[in-house]
Formats: sequence, structure tokens, C-alpha cells
Amino acid sequence: MYPGFAEQARADRDGKAIVEFEAQQAESREHAGIFRKAAHNFGLLTHIENHHAQQYTEALQALEGVKTSPKAASSDPATQKWICRQCSMIYDPTEGDPDSGIAPGTPFAAIPEDWHCPICGASKKTFVPYEEVVAA
Ligand SMILES: [Fe+2]
Repeated sequence: MYPGFAEQARADRDGKAIVEFEAQQAESREHAGIFRKAAHNFGLLTHIENHHAQQYTEALQALEGVKTSPKAASSDPATQKWICRQCSMIYDPTEGDPDSGIAPGTPFAAIPEDWHCPICGASKKTFVPYEEVVAA
């Protein structure tokens, strides 16, 4: 709505209103960027919550006497997922971490050592290979 307001202000030759509406427009663009980043980070939380659901399912199955076993870690670095021990963020090499400049298809070992968890900021050393748990 601000571009239209600014256009009307220009038609009215109202300098103060033009400045105000253009400032509001710039602020709205900044806020949109912040919301896009937040939406992306909430998307990353999906993997974490799925991991937690898997852990609770495993605990429930153990209580019910169902045996579980860890799924063998992938031997293919191109598909091996890694998990942050601090927040449970899962790095998936097929997705990479584009916001941090890590292209899809980047194996974990190829990520620079100064990379950090996009959710909690933990160092790369905090990550361990992710092994999904399956019912035995
Ligand atoms: Fe993390």
C-alpha cells in the first residue's frame, strides 16, 4: 500500500509524506526479509521435530517390548545425514545449507570447518552421523 500512498503524495507534491511513505516501504521490505529467514528456519525445525517424534516412538516401542535397531549409517557421503548434538538440526547433503553458501549435493566432509549450525550456531565438530532408528 505504501507505493500507492507515495505516488499519491508525489501527485499532491507533499514532500514530507513522500519521505514517510518511502521510508515505510523500505522498512516493510526489511521486515519481509526477516520473515522469510524465520520461515526458512521454521522449515529446518521440521527435521528436528521428526527426529524427536522418532525418539519418542522408539521409547514407546521399548516400553511395549518392540525391539528397535539403528538403521545403518549410509556409506555414501552424498546421502549421509549428520545431526547437531546440541539442537538436533539435521544436515542433509542433498539439500545443503544454501543460506550459508553450502550448495545442495555438498557432503558434510566438504563443508568448511568454520561453518556452524544454522539453528543454534554450534560448530561443525558438534555434528555426528545421523542414524535413523527402525523397528527390528
Ligand atoms: Fe544446532
